[in-house]
Amino acid sequence: MKGIILAGGTATRLFPLTVTTSKQLLPVYDRQMIFYPLNILIKAKIREILIIVAPEHSGQFLNLLGSIFEKFNIHLEFKVQKVPRGLADAFILGKTFIGQEAVTMALGDNIFEDDLSEKIRKFKKGGLVFAKRVPDPERFGVVEFDKKGRALSIEEKPLKPKSSFCLTGLYVYDNQVVKFARGLKPSSRGEIEITDINRQYLEQKMLKVEKIRGAWLDAGTYDSLLEAGRIVREKKIFAKMDPVIDKAILCLNEELKAIAKKRLF
Ligand code: G1P
Repeated sequence: MKGIILAGGTATRLFPLTVTTSKQLLPVYDRQMIFYPLNILIKAKIREILIIVAPEHSGQFLNLLGSIFEKFNIHLEFKVQKVPRGLADAFILGKTFIGQEAVTMALGDNIFEDDLSEKIRKFKKGGLVFAKRVPDPERFGVVEFDKKGRALSIEEKPLKPKSSFCLTGLYVYDNQVVKFARGLKPSSRGEIEITDINRQYLEQKMLKVEKIRGAWLDAGTYDSLLEAGRIVREKKIFAKMDPVIDKAILCLNEELKAIAKKRLF
């Protein structure tokens, strides 16, 4: 399976923080936000990961992540998304990278308390997405369930949500996703929507929706960014990462310290 992290966009809601860097490079407690989605994919034993970034921040992503995972046999690729066209664009930009395989896409600003890696590892076919009960479902993609807990409908940012369960930013798909994404038309907000991909899997009766219990945040506003840091610290999410992430950060820090020392003399 391949992995994609969507870390493009301009994050206007976080201005002026995102004038100087990408949202996904802002700190969440003791590390940059991007390490959280990286952790999900690496824990799920995905070894090839494509990171989609905005042109103005591509250098910063390379400086931080360019070579730190090489010695752990994890291959990162970067692709610039010139104009944000919607989440589903990741599967069009990533078509060659995905090839004939299945793919997990993680949004660069989503932070999960639960360890979902085993569910990703066990994935076979169709689509697998994760739902979380939230107080403000109208801000998200909303999934409605029947009495037996099967998904009935999915709507993107509905004015009148049919349930309080939103779909989180972690999507596991078989290779059909590339075909589905290429057939999409932009929505009223001018984006090709991941919700329309989920709907196609739902129509085929091939979409599995798992409810998650632990904390979940999309760190896209000042409050949720602050809350993300607080939850990561309180629930010690930073301490439950795949050891590869911590080793890679340690190596990077050592390397940077050695360079800093040379500069002093
Ligand atoms: C996107 C998706 C939405 C999903 C959300 C999760 O929303 O379109 O379905 O619930 O991510 O973070 P956006 O970030 O584009 O507002």
